[in-house]
Amino acid sequence: MRTPVRDYLLEVTDGLVDVRDGGVADYIPALAAADPDRLALAVTTVGGRSYSVGDDDLEFSVQSISKPFAYAAALLDRGTEAVDAVVGVEPSGEAFDELSLERGTHRPRNPMINAGAIAVHGLLDASAPGGRVGRVLDVFSALAGRRLVVDDEVHAGEMATADRNLALAHMLRTYGLVTAGAHDVVDGYTRQCSVLVTARDVAVMGATLASGGVQPVTGERVLPAAVARRTLSVMLAAGMYDAAGSWITHVGIPAKSGVSGGLLGALPGQAGICSFSPRLDGQGNSVRGVLAFRRLSADMGMHLM
Ligand code: DON
Repeated sequence: MRTPVRDYLLEVTDGLVDVRDGGVADYIPALAAADPDRLALAVTTVGGRSYSVGDDDLEFSVQSISKPFAYAAALLDRGTEAVDAVVGVEPSGEAFDELSLERGTHRPRNPMINAGAIAVHGLLDASAPGGRVGRVLDVFSALAGRRLVVDDEVHAGEMATADRNLALAHMLRTYGLVTAGAHDVVDGYTRQCSVLVTARDVAVMGATLASGGVQPVTGERVLPAAVARRTLSVMLAAGMYDAAGSWITHVGIPAKSGVSGGLLGALPGQAGICSFSPRLDGQGNSVRGVLAFRRLSADMGMHLM
């Protein structure tokens, strides 16, 4: 359907097709094999209207975009106090795979880096059918409004190169911040990263955060408003890793990036946004995704400030 919003999104993506900077993540085979030229842009408003262009139905592994949603699920399952006991809310200023523990408490600085996300995954309700991964799939599917699944091939590739994540989990166990087995938690965390989504799904999931927890298409309240607000706050502070300050300055939208090339944005009270383009910059953020968000923020007045 042609609408002014869709025409605008087409214009933005047209302006990006010649941008070929950056490279695809290559540490697991499925990511290395991604077509670097794919490009999608999707927006869902809190009123439930969706607009999308390009490769908007192409499935990709959610990767680190899973982290805010898993954090929300842990807040739901355990409450704020229990979650705060194992993970902080401060930007780390370091790469996503650094240990980045707070002095004194030894908590990972935030749930958007791997160490924090591994600790958060370990908090999820394991009594659900399918354990913690079943819980992830239930919450993510409710957020997306369709049943999501894990890509087993992506997961196998992740586990074959998971030494660093296993090391983080073992370290967290020494501080009592992870109590389940390190292998078990990293296996679940990497399955969480291997859930397949489309740009359209991620925009709807983001719109659910933006709306204060009500999925705008199904009408289901998936998250309490306080959980959605907390999740958006941490995305704003730490969603773009060591580029968090420049992101807040230039874009001003709570966001989370992933190594497969997805970029989630959620503007409170307005909309969920997702770009997908696999080539990444030195900080692990999608090159064309960052450009698309900068343009949307400027043109549509989306900067929070
Ligand atoms: O932990 C990992 O290595 C991946 N499964 C997720 C990493 C990710 O997306 C980091 N983001 N830029």
